[in-house]
Amino acid sequence: MGFPTVVAICGKGGVGKTVFGGAVLRVFWQRCLRILAVDADPAMGLRYLLGLKDDIKTLGDLREDLIRRAKTDRDPEQIAGAMDYLLLEALTETDKFSFLAMGRSRSRGCFCPVNSLLKESARKLAQNYDVVLVDAEAGVEQINREVMSSVDSIVVLMDNSQRSRHSVELIKQMAVDLNMRARMGVVLNRAKDLGETVHAAVSALEVPVWGTIPEDEELLRNDALGRSVFDLPANSPVLESAERIVDFLVEA
Ligand SMILES: Nc1ncnc2c1ncn2[C@@H]1O[C@H](COP(=O)(O)OP(=O)(O)O)[C@@H](O)[C@H]1O
Ligand SMILES: [Mg+2]
Repeated sequence: MGFPTVVAICGKGGVGKTVFGGAVLRVFWQRCLRILAVDADPAMGLRYLLGLKDDIKTLGDLREDLIRRAKTDRDPEQIAGAMDYLLLEALTETDKFSFLAMGRSRSRGCFCPVNSLLKESARKLAQNYDVVLVDAEAGVEQINREVMSSVDSIVVLMDNSQRSRHSVELIKQMAVDLNMRARMGVVLNRAKDLGETVHAAVSALEVPVWGTIPEDEELLRNDALGRSVFDLPANSPVLESAERIVDFLVEA
């Protein structure tokens, strides 16, 4: 057992994180890597793109069970002992990848013991994989708190909007505040050449551009028909871009 490469995909809502995450996952699979995909967005779109069904137990559900048990059970050690096994209940395994959905945390307040137990079990589970790919919400804060403290690469998706560049700045700052050592790069989605001013604004972010993806008709059609990322043609622009970025991600 070794340490997996942990990759988090972040960025403003609607910017293309889930489709890009799906594309990256497909490339990892083509390279015969053992993949754990983690959907950290409560909207949980990744499962559909990966062709999974709806009835999936989430880590949020598991956390609720644990909190309930921790309140009534007199023996917290017993819960800790059962943790690794419990986590498997939330794991979906296919012939191509494994999948965990974070879901929502409904209980209010800090349940730090439960979170750290979950995190410890997730860390052990992750050792069975070559890569852990996290489709994140806007930021990295939740990943750090609830799933993995050691992220290797953060890919921030961006479109042409100033708002998406603002998210890059926020995510960059968050990673500094959390003391994360991850490398960070941006991917410009639906990229268009909008002139010097926009180029300058992207350079001013001082984050390397790891790739660009053009508007992809095939991807739109695939999404409209509710197809999985494994149905995309191999030469689709989003997959070609993911190919190049995966070289960065697993080289380290
Ligand atoms: N390069 C692209 N070309 C065409 N459509 C795209 C492209 N990138 C994203 N989309 C579409 O934009 C929508 C939002 O993408 P999604 O990955 O769900 O965003 P996010 O996960 O960041 O909220 C989806 O319907 C997707 O099909
Ligand atoms: Mg998404």
